[in-house]
Order: sequence, then structure tokens, then C-alpha cells
Amino acid sequence: MKKQIIAASLTLAFGFAHTAASAQSAGSTVNVICSVQAEWCNLISTVYAKTTGVKINMSLKGSGEALAQIIAERENPKTDVWFGGTGDPHLQAAEQNLTLEYQSTVMPQLQGWAQQQAQQSKFKTVGIYSGPLGFGYNTEILKKKNMPVPQTWEDLTKPIYKGEIQVANPASSGTAYTMIATLVQLMGEDKAFEYMKRLHKNISQYTRSGTGPIKAAARGETAVSISFIHDAPGEAMQGFPVLAITPKDGTGAEIGSMSIIKGAKNLDAAKKFYDWALSASAQELGAAAKQFQVPANKGSKVDSRVPDFKKIKFINYDYAKYGASTERRRLIAKWEKEVNSLPR
Ligand code: G6P
Repeated sequence: MKKQIIAASLTLAFGFAHTAASAQSAGSTVNVICSVQAEWCNLISTVYAKTTGVKINMSLKGSGEALAQIIAERENPKTDVWFGGTGDPHLQAAEQNLTLEYQSTVMPQLQGWAQQQAQQSKFKTVGIYSGPLGFGYNTEILKKKNMPVPQTWEDLTKPIYKGEIQVANPASSGTAYTMIATLVQLMGEDKAFEYMKRLHKNISQYTRSGTGPIKAAARGETAVSISFIHDAPGEAMQGFPVLAITPKDGTGAEIGSMSIIKGAKNLDAAKKFYDWALSASAQELGAAAKQFQVPANKGSKVDSRVPDFKKIKFINYDYAKYGASTERRRLIAKWEKEVNSLPR
């Protein structure tokens, strides 16, 4: 199966084989921090090495942790490209001048939201995928414990879900920060924090990684997760009884992003990887690795398991405001102090 996926992906990316010689001459490695799931990171590495001859040194990190590493390395960057993860910390990195302005020739092929992410950061980052925030749930546990499928944010605070919900920690996870920013925009800041304090009573665990909670729901370790809903089909394809839903009262979406690090040691190789990663065929590698975000390239095939945005009630997420470093830092610190410190 894995071999088939790689073979199919190689065919997809075949159009890039001709760039092999030039990529090789630009340097034979590129150092990438990858903030999507391991399956996608690994497939990218394999396909890119096979089609271009360029080796990717890949390190996997959640969005918040990736930003922390890039800040720590600022005097002597060891990373060339930061691939994936929620867009807010990429915008923060851009604002802090940690990433490099670069306008790929592939830019016109991208969806409006992906280009907007680039324009907002003066081309120091770019959108590579998008996906909605919602709830994952284990169908068997809900049935066994006679719990309804939560339909709204408010539903999650009902006593019936006490100890049955997991979400990630916003300091390490972009998913969890997207939740805070979404709630603040949906309810207003005071009510959102009031809400998160009530929700806190029902949370069994704040995980490090954004996908921890839906993996736990899939495996029956928790009934409900707050997650990106595009992470559910990949778990279900492994045979786990997990589904996902978006709240009826409205939700936010991430613009998963990619940035070149300022001071990258392998700059030419970084630019080549970046152009490749934005191409229609490379963007289809997400679905090939069972990752079902909406691809940024308009020419990419959209898998039928990718959530249909037309059926979801979205807030008008203000990416510039919630990707600003002072706002992001302030909200995470406030959550630590006012929510996470409370007893459960
Ligand atoms: C998963 C999702 C991505 C998301 C990422 C954020 O990989 O599939 O769409 O960008 O999580 O991870 P984090 O650990 O930062 O919440």
C-alpha cells in the first residue's frame, strides 16, 4: 500500500524530474521543519529526493514549537524552510523578521486565501492549505455512554462531557491557538474566556500536539476532541470509529502556511523546494498521505474527503490581527493564567 502511494506520488511529481539537475547543482540538502502530520512530511521527503536528488533533513514540530525553535535559532539559523502548521505563528515569524520575503512564480496559481496570506506578510509566508476547526468524536463511545454528538461550542460545557474532551495546549499547538482566536472572534473576548473556563472543567488533558486529541478520540481514549476536521478521515481510514463535525454556531479555519527562514544556509535549495511545494502536483501529496486539507493550488485535484467549505458556518477570521505577535502572545499568556491554572 505504502509502495503504491509512493509510486503514485512519484508519477504525480514526475513533471519535476527535469529540475533534478539544477536542484542538485544548487545544493544537495535542504533543512525543513515540518508542522503537518508525519505521513505527509515523510512522503514529501521521499518524493522530493527521488525526483530532484535533493535530500530533505526533516524535523517534525508543532506550529508553536516550530516558531520557538526559529526564534531561538535567529542568530544562526539551522532551518531553511518551515513547511505547514497553522498560519498565525508564520505571520508572527514574518512580523518578527525571522522569515524571508520571496515571491514564487507559482503564486498566481494559488487560491485567493493563500495569496492573501502572502500579501499580508509582505511575502514572508504563503498559504499552502486550509481547513476548518471542529469536533472529532468516537461514535462507539458516544453510543455506549449515551452521549449526544455535540453540535455547538456551548454543548461541550455540558456536565455529560466532564472528563471526556481533549484539546491541545496553545503554547505548543497552532490548532489550540486557532480555537482561542476563533472563540474570541465568535463570542467577544470576555465571554470567550468565561466560556473556556467552563470548558476547562470538562477537559481531561491538554496535549502537546494539535492532532493528539483526535488520535485519542479515534483510539477510544477520549470521547470528543477539538480538532481540525480534515484530520478525521485519515484516522477513520485506519479503521477507527471516528467522525468530525463543525459547530453550528460558527467556526474558524486555519491557513496552513510555509515560510523561508531568513539567513537560510541553503537559500537556492530552499527556494526550489518552496516553488515545488506550491505546485499542483506536490500539493496533491497531502491527500496521497491521507491528509485532507484544501490545497492552495487551484490546479490540484480536491479529494472527495476534503471538507466542503460551502456547508460550514465560518466566522470572518481576522488573520492579520490574530497572527500579530503581541496579540498571539497576549492571548496565550492570558489562557495560561486565567484558564489553565484553574483546578478541574
Ligand atoms: C495537523 C493538521 C494541520 C495543522 C497542524 C497543526 O497536522 O493536519 O492542518 O496545521 O496539525 O499542528 P499543531 O500541533 O501546531 O496544532
